[in-house]
Amino acid sequence: MKVDVLLGLQWGDEGKGKIVDFISNKYDIIARFQGGPNAGHTIKFNQQKYVLHTIPSGIFNENVNNIIGNGVVIDPVTLCAELDMLDKMQINYKKNLFISRKAHLIIPTHKHLDAASEIAKGKDKIGSTLRGITPTYMDKTGRNGLRIGDCELQSFDKKLQNLTKKHLHILKHYNYKADLTKQIDVWFKAIDRIKSIPFINSEYVFHDALSKNKNILAEGAQGTLLDLDFGTYPFVTSSNTIASGACNGLGIAPNSIKEVIGIFKAYCTRVGSGPFPTELKDKTGDKMAKKGNEFGSTTGRARRCGWIDLPALKYAININGVTQLSMMKSDVLSGFKTIKVCTSYNYKGAEINYLPYDLDDELITPNYTEIEGWDEDISCMTSMNTMPKAFLKYIDFLEKELNKPISIISVGPDRSQTIFK
Ligand code: GDP
Ligand code: IMO
Ligand code: MG
Repeated sequence: MKVDVLLGLQWGDEGKGKIVDFISNKYDIIARFQGGPNAGHTIKFNQQKYVLHTIPSGIFNENVNNIIGNGVVIDPVTLCAELDMLDKMQINYKKNLFISRKAHLIIPTHKHLDAASEIAKGKDKIGSTLRGITPTYMDKTGRNGLRIGDCELQSFDKKLQNLTKKHLHILKHYNYKADLTKQIDVWFKAIDRIKSIPFINSEYVFHDALSKNKNILAEGAQGTLLDLDFGTYPFVTSSNTIASGACNGLGIAPNSIKEVIGIFKAYCTRVGSGPFPTELKDKTGDKMAKKGNEFGSTTGRARRCGWIDLPALKYAININGVTQLSMMKSDVLSGFKTIKVCTSYNYKGAEINYLPYDLDDELITPNYTEIEGWDEDISCMTSMNTMPKAFLKYIDFLEKELNKPISIISVGPDRSQTIFK
């Protein structure tokens, strides 16, 4: 009887989807608890690559039920595109995909509001994925939102009209023209299609599963440093990406959480604006980006790259109560003569080991420890026994510094390129 939580410890795209898929056979239910189609979770096996935005990453395991939790915001059009992808690949989701009635709906004007807000911010823009995430969560907290369960009510059309009207009023204020004619049609068609997926009172399903000793994995989106409260605000997303978000986003109690699996890259990336103390704006950063193929899974934007940041990782571990770690993209670091690890920062003339309130790249410089690199290609390694000594030293250093076990090492994007340590 337990819930494990799997989440990102950096700025997203750590490789959460890959690990959820990899460990899915240990669970009865996989449930997404927050975010929406701003997420892009990549899974690779049998020479096929799948990118999921809304659907939990356990969908390729027919023995697992996949639930889109109440904390998620759903764009029916994106969700239908995901269903199309699964249909095309003959992945049967008809029996193991469910949606919480309490999940909120992204309506066409939410995306326009996202765009209008970013345009208005100018050079201070957040770098949003423009998927309508923030305006939808704003309507949720403002108690104006439309939920999945509303599709089943007679008042649905009226509610949608009222909300759209309100949005058009705000868009006028932004001087932003939104052409909605086609979009509303497409959106309604998508709503009709997703009605074929069972809508459920998911919190009851989780409670029932726990009472029957079933295992649940809560799948996070984004990463801890994008958390609304504890991330690099305001350059964050609009949901709680941290472990406590699983309680709100699924309706499970804190004391039902057992393991918290923290996913991190062997280096660090960020897409969108905002501070990134260890960012490399040089050839080394370009090399990481190229080797790691660092382009966003949702927007295709280039990801910024830099060395691993231990003060930020330790912060993320504490905020989430992480019990075990998965290190991703280890293969990308092959061929670097030395690997740098940020162990503290210089900030306003003092050495610190925490993220300051006014984190600003202009005010902060990282202090690095240098570790010997390795040349061997590790992407085909299947056991720790054959790993280069320098790589093992890197792992050892990180485990000692972070004071948590790294239980999974990923050496490539494919499901098979994963080692239990
Ligand atoms: P998520 O959002 O956390 O699920 O991560 P994304 O799917 O957005 O980004 C991770 C990217 O890295 C994807 O393209 C994965 O296929 C890829 N990937 C995952 N693990 C590894 C790894 O160990 N090595 C390499 N080279 N690529 C990986
Ligand atoms: P996964 O789940 C990486 C970033 C955006 C932007 C900020 C706010 O794939 O790890 P939003 O659209 O939420 O208003 O954007 O957050 N962002 C992500 N970066 N991975 C993600 O998800 C992200 N989801 C949002 O780039 O900087
Ligand atoms: Mg991603």
